[in-house]
Amino acid sequence: VQPEQIEIIKTHDESLTLFHHQFKERYHSIHGAIAETMHVFINMGLKKVDKDVINILDFGLGTGLNALLTYLEGKKSPQTLNYHALEAYPIEMDKIAQLNYIELLNAENEREFFNAMHHSNHLELLQKNQFNFAKHLVKWEDFETDIKFDLIYFDAFAPTVQPELWTIEVFEKLYNMMSDEAILVTYCAKGYVKRNIKAAKFILESLSGPPGKREMTRAVKIT
Ligand SMILES: C[S@@+](CC[C@H](N)C(=O)[O-])C[C@H]1O[C@@H](n2cnc3c(N)ncnc32)[C@H](O)[C@@H]1O
Repeated sequence: VQPEQIEIIKTHDESLTLFHHQFKERYHSIHGAIAETMHVFINMGLKKVDKDVINILDFGLGTGLNALLTYLEGKKSPQTLNYHALEAYPIEMDKIAQLNYIELLNAENEREFFNAMHHSNHLELLQKNQFNFAKHLVKWEDFETDIKFDLIYFDAFAPTVQPELWTIEVFEKLYNMMSDEAILVTYCAKGYVKRNIKAAKFILESLSGPPGKREMTRAVKIT
């Protein structure tokens, strides 16, 4: 992403996020970037998967906050996390360096690993504390894999700005990349998005949302 396209803004829990001028969208909720990510992806996603080895797809990496919080959560459990981050438009390192997640999360020891995740090349494997990280620097449209994901963080920009990423076809492609009983979590709870997820054969749950949002969505693949 061109640096001038990206602006840094503060959300209500003090954590910073980015605003993308071309998409005219924030990377997180204004009500709190860390609060939203903790609720939607960690508490309603990661913590609900009861497996020794969890294959995770993060769509997309953006600021890396989902990855950082997943890594920190993973350190508390003996599970092995295989983390696959998808990103078509990586953010410049000088912007990443201005984010305040490491400070707010008291994770100074992890700054180097956080930066390494951002610096890493396409499919380069990083490893720390049973957390295996690989970045897929491709567009979703070109993303192919044999991996069966147990957990998907569906974190594209909103359907108002990226309608092409919230279609039945996209959810069907995701469904086919998932293991049995795998779950997909997203911050979005729009009616037509839920209908598209359902049409792709997922079982849907509407859950209470993060601060400032009434609802979020979790979808389970039951074959
Ligand atoms: C809402 S932001 C992600 C927020 C991110 N999880 C974070 O914590 O910052 C959406 C992300 O999806 C990426 N993206 C948008 N369209 C994409 C596509 N077609 N393929 C892959 N990634 C895409 C964007 O570049 C952006 O980083």
